[in-house]
Amino acid sequence: MEVLIHSDADEVARGAARRVACLLERTPEAVLGLATGSTMVPVYVELARLHREEGLDFSAVTTFNLDEFVGLPPDHPGSYRAYMRKHFVERVNVRASRVHLPDGNAEDIPEACARYEAAIRDAGGIDLQLLGIGRDGHIAFNEPTSSLASRTRIKTLTAATMDAFPPEREVPRHVVTMGVGTILEAHRCLLLATGQDKAEAVARMVEGPLTALVPASALQLHPDTTVLVDEAAASRLALAGYYREVAARKPDWQRERDGD
Ligand code: GLP
Repeated sequence: MEVLIHSDADEVARGAARRVACLLERTPEAVLGLATGSTMVPVYVELARLHREEGLDFSAVTTFNLDEFVGLPPDHPGSYRAYMRKHFVERVNVRASRVHLPDGNAEDIPEACARYEAAIRDAGGIDLQLLGIGRDGHIAFNEPTSSLASRTRIKTLTAATMDAFPPEREVPRHVVTMGVGTILEAHRCLLLATGQDKAEAVARMVEGPLTALVPASALQLHPDTTVLVDEAAASRLALAGYYREVAARKPDWQRERDGD
């Protein structure tokens, strides 16, 4: 796992956007795995800027989001589809028909989940998966004790995850989420965490034991994962000094490949 410690949340977002841009310059038809949440908002702002000011082209890109709420109409402002429309689809030249989210309104949810998995496979798999992390170490909506081999399916949110959303927001108890096993099949993963309240989860993910109690720790099994954190989110990492040294000595060819 590569851990890159940036000074603040803006640098983390810019670093993530640069990596996406670098991939699209090499592979314009890349398949992106996309995430929602407040950590990702500045990433989409930067991607929109790169599109507007530097011509970053999303016209051949296909996207798959990690998760969606069950039972919220797609135009509900609290749905992740609405989030993606507002922060991404309306700001770049991605084709709406190539933007996929799990279907939280399907009559037959298991069947819709199987179709989602098939669509990812048919697209050739996910080239780069963006991820956030919950305070309890969840990725997507894979709550603690999720099977590390899980696929896209329905999950019930924990009370703690429900409480992390603003009180005025309507949050259904059920969600449809890519599984940990689905995420591990992405060719590359890029996990972002900012702020002190993520520090414990980041330390458990990177340096703790591999355990379903911390679903993000499954990324220790992924051969190409980068964790982008700000100083606050890095504050509980025991080996922070080593990660800084590795970053400082990163070979030029790797820097170029990654857009660092
Ligand atoms: C939700 C999302 C996750 C996200 C997490 C953290 O649980 N399903 O994908 O990583 O929130 O969100 P935030 O970035 O707002 O802290």
